Amino acid sequence: MRVVVLVSGTGSLLQALLNASVDPDYGVQVVAVGADRAGIEALARAERSGVPTFIERVGDYPNRQLWDAALAARVAQFQPDLVISAGFLKLVGHDFLVAFGDRFINTHPSLLPAFPGAHPVRDALAYGNTVTGATVFFVDAGTDTGPIIEQRAVSIQPQDTEASLHERIKQVEREMLVEVVGRLARQSWTITGRNVTLR
Ligand code: GRF
Repeated sequence: MRVVVLVSGTGSLLQALLNASVDPDYGVQVVAVGADRAGIEALARAERSGVPTFIERVGDYPNRQLWDAALAARVAQFQPDLVISAGFLKLVGHDFLVAFGDRFINTHPSLLPAFPGAHPVRDALAYGNTVTGATVFFVDAGTDTGPIIEQRAVSIQPQDTEASLHERIKQVEREMLVEVVGRLARQSWTITGRNVTLR
């Protein structure tokens, strides 16, 4: 399965996918890594693995729609079977979803639908939750609202800070993302309403 990964940050999720894809039995090839900004560790990780990279900055386009269309065209050049948002800090728009809507997944550090948006770890702590977690889902037009593929729970400890909790969630997120992507590589999937079926 040909995979394009979109990133904005340190890229530890990307690294987990790159490590797993070294094994031919995993069945996944990361064919490109795209970012919305330069100078991030995620792009350096891709380069160290010899994976082609590209950057599409929103600010380089007159408006968001043109950026979205350019991002979709750039990703399409790599003919991916699956596109993964792995810490990609941008919402895509209409053109991207028309092109990749049924094969674009994201991972989010909360048990959706709790705590969508930009600060899910901080929000779970502030709410006083004792359990949070991570969700892998197909992206739709909403913010973190798409059909859920898998979720895993993480306990919140009384001494947790946003950083310590996010790090524990990311350990679970990395494992879950690698497993889900492996399953998507080996099985076909259908999305019916909110239900995702793998067979
Ligand atoms: C992950 O928790 C992801 O869900 C969130 O940002 C983090 C990315 O971490 N959107 P990294 O850049 O892969 O280390």
